[in-house]
Amino acid sequence: MERTLVILKPCTVQRGLIGEIISRFEKKGLVLVGMKMTWLTDELLSEHYAHLKEKSFFQRVKDAMRTCPVIVCCWEGIDAVEAVRTLAGKTNGRNAAPGTIRGDYSMSVQENIVHASDSLETAKVELSRFFDPSELYEYTPSNIWSLYANDEI
Ligand code: TYD
Repeated sequence: MERTLVILKPCTVQRGLIGEIISRFEKKGLVLVGMKMTWLTDELLSEHYAHLKEKSFFQRVKDAMRTCPVIVCCWEGIDAVEAVRTLAGKTNGRNAAPGTIRGDYSMSVQENIVHASDSLETAKVELSRFFDPSELYEYTPSNIWSLYANDEI
């Protein structure tokens, strides 16, 4: 099983879409193993978006991420990193495919509903950045045999 980080961005919190977006991941069959509301700091966001630090929009993106608290969550599943990225859709909500979260809920590049880790390596680093190990839980969902075939897990 893989674990991956999703952040419901301030735009999602402000638009009252938290429940709807969480529900998309639940309906997919991903298992929620950690979740909390937190107000991000510029320092943490500088680490999180370090790959964008030379970009003109670096500060703007960081500022947008701390206009209100966000929801950080950890989802678990087989190939969860790729499954979540596929569900999130392309960065720019305007040309993200219909059926994806960004395609269905966003008209913006920046205000694009969710952050999702882009590789397994990144997911590990990002999960340890946003969660204490004690905040992530181990459990087997009771519907596991309806989610996967027995040779998949
Ligand atoms: P990035 O890591 O490239 O995309 P993704 O979130 O799909 O992994 O960019 C991080 C965030 O920065 C992105 O979600 C929205 C914002 N951003 C802009 O505001 N303008 C841009 O041109 C790009 C590429 C990203």
